[in-house]
Amino acid sequence: MHDNPRILVTSAAGKTGLQTALQLLEKGYSVRAFVRRDDRRAERLRRAGGEIFVGDQYNLADMRHAMRDVQRAYHCAPTAPNGLHFGTVFAIAAHENAVEHVVTLSQWLAAPDHPSVFTREVWLNDAVLDLMPQTTVTHVNVGWFADNYFMVLEPAAQLGLLTMPLGDGETRKNAPPSNEDIAAVNVGALIDPATHAGKTYRPTGPELMSPNEIAATMAKVLGRRVRYQDISEAMFLKAVTALQPPGFTDAALTQLRLYVREYQRGAFAVGGPTDAVETVGGRAPESFETITRRVAAQRPEAVRSAANKTAALRNFMKILVTRKPDPDAIERRRGHVLIADPAFCQDSAEWRESHDPSSGPAHHGPAAGADNVSALKQATA
Ligand SMILES: NC(=O)c1ccc[n+]([C@@H]2O[C@H](COP(=O)([O-])OP(=O)(O)OC[C@H]3O[C@@H](n4cnc5c(N)ncnc54)[C@H](OP(=O)(O)O)[C@@H]3O)[C@@H](O)[C@H]2O)c1
Repeated sequence: MHDNPRILVTSAAGKTGLQTALQLLEKGYSVRAFVRRDDRRAERLRRAGGEIFVGDQYNLADMRHAMRDVQRAYHCAPTAPNGLHFGTVFAIAAHENAVEHVVTLSQWLAAPDHPSVFTREVWLNDAVLDLMPQTTVTHVNVGWFADNYFMVLEPAAQLGLLTMPLGDGETRKNAPPSNEDIAAVNVGALIDPATHAGKTYRPTGPELMSPNEIAATMAKVLGRRVRYQDISEAMFLKAVTALQPPGFTDAALTQLRLYVREYQRGAFAVGGPTDAVETVGGRAPESFETITRRVAAQRPEAVRSAANKTAALRNFMKILVTRKPDPDAIERRRGHVLIADPAFCQDSAEWRESHDPSSGPAHHGPAAGADNVSALKQATA
């Protein structure tokens, strides 16, 4: 192992990549930051001492350039179509350069028979990385990020409504990790391969919280009443289509509905919270309140004003008049690989065993992958 490795950070302008690169630079490591464009996020990394590489992660020539003279790497596939392409391009370039250690951002839900094609591709990428003979790997399997709740920061701050389709307000829980804490785990594993090679970690926040508790925390931080409102999947898909959060693609939308169903089935609570942030990242995990305070201080939509409330109402109207997208039609149109017998996580004995050996018999919730199966049948009819 190199004493002073150069570390490639992919998706370095993204949520976990940016924090991973900054924390490595803070510790004095040499970082090459792979970004898609040279914007103010790249400038921030450059000012912190990072070497900026601008390229396309789908493009093998770019990845080969980026990987030159690199000894370790953080692999973070963007949430975008054709994830298998990201992973394979990365693996080929890493193998050619005999990279000694890779930390890869996987998923809490990762399984070979999951209804989500993105999730299956993440699992396949994990498996391909594990086959590389010259490279050790650490898998970081994260669940529902704290950041996801801030998709609805505007209605929470301006209208007092946390509108998400997470089931009733009390039952289904999640211990949401911050981007900073996920990055701390990445960094811990990148700088100490001898300890972390071959391991899988599942970073979480410090406590399991219900949607009502998430809303109450937002209320405390924002200084106003915030009520959790369970919305239908159709309304959620309309909202995502209308407002197009950063990184939105219609392909990602089809997967988001499956992640919401996993949330409703309680998958993100299985085996949580974990001590990965503490033991690998070397720090206490941030509470959701701490995360919310930081985000609210940075986001203009968190400031209560007449103009912001008007904007929130306008967005609400936009959602109402937006047509509900048809995720099954999108999956068919995009040619997503659909499998005949998909299983949500808790219906897989292997998944349950790896997350929580004491979790007991299969969970019976909403139909497993029913839409995917019907889409497959229609596509092949
Ligand atoms: N969100 C969750 O709850 C969750 C849970 C579990 C696992 N994950 C995993 O997290 C990963 C995403 O990580 P993240 O949230 O840290 O990333 P992210 O914030 O989505 O950032 C992805 C970055 O990649 C860049 N990018 C997109 N397409 C590119 C391309 N073709 N070439 C080069 N760069 C490209 C984007 O650039 P621009 O910013 O310039 O567009 C963005 O900065 C996914 O693999 C997902 O499976 C997410």
